[in-house]
Amino acid sequence: MNYLVVYYSRTGNNRTIAESIASRLSADVDEIIDRKNRKGKLNWLLAGRDSRAKKLTEIEYKKNPQEYDTIIIGAPIWAWNPIPPLRTYLQEVDLRGKRVAFFICSKTDAYNNMFQTLAEMTPDSEHVGNFGIQETRFKNEDYTADLEAFIDKIR
Ligand SMILES: Cc1cc2nc3c(=O)[nH]c(=O)nc-3n(C[C@H](O)[C@H](O)[C@H](O)COP(=O)(O)O)c2cc1C
Repeated sequence: MNYLVVYYSRTGNNRTIAESIASRLSADVDEIIDRKNRKGKLNWLLAGRDSRAKKLTEIEYKKNPQEYDTIIIGAPIWAWNPIPPLRTYLQEVDLRGKRVAFFICSKTDAYNNMFQTLAEMTPDSEHVGNFGIQETRFKNEDYTADLEAFIDKIR
């Protein structure tokens, strides 16, 4: 079994989780880069607007998920929606027949609804697990046990 961890992170939270998962699974890691500048106050507003409008964007990534058995995909939530770089990634890559898991660090517990949406966006994949965590808990608490339980499910 080989594993790929793919993530988008604007401010580093989901990157930290991605790296933690990857080190436990000896997985390859790939970062989705949004070619649209998402830094700064104005771009923050536009990011929310783009996400709410379910827009796509131009992205870069390096690894081909076709070469892996299990793909673990993580990103934040913007404006109660899967973010444009993730939406674009899921349209561009072929995950049919692959084992797929999702993780989300977001400000609220909105990830609970998001996992269903993400499963619907990858209808021909085998969904093997989800891990959601709120930002405050991510920053203040030890979530190792929950992360280990997620990793055990997908291993
Ligand atoms: C434009 C924008 C919109 C956001 N909208 C939501 C939201 O609807 N619900 C939520 O729980 N968090 C929302 N957030 C917060 C992020 O999901 C949260 O800060 C996350 O931890 C960031 O992850 P990152 O550090 O990997 O980029 C939003 C953040 C941004 C920048």
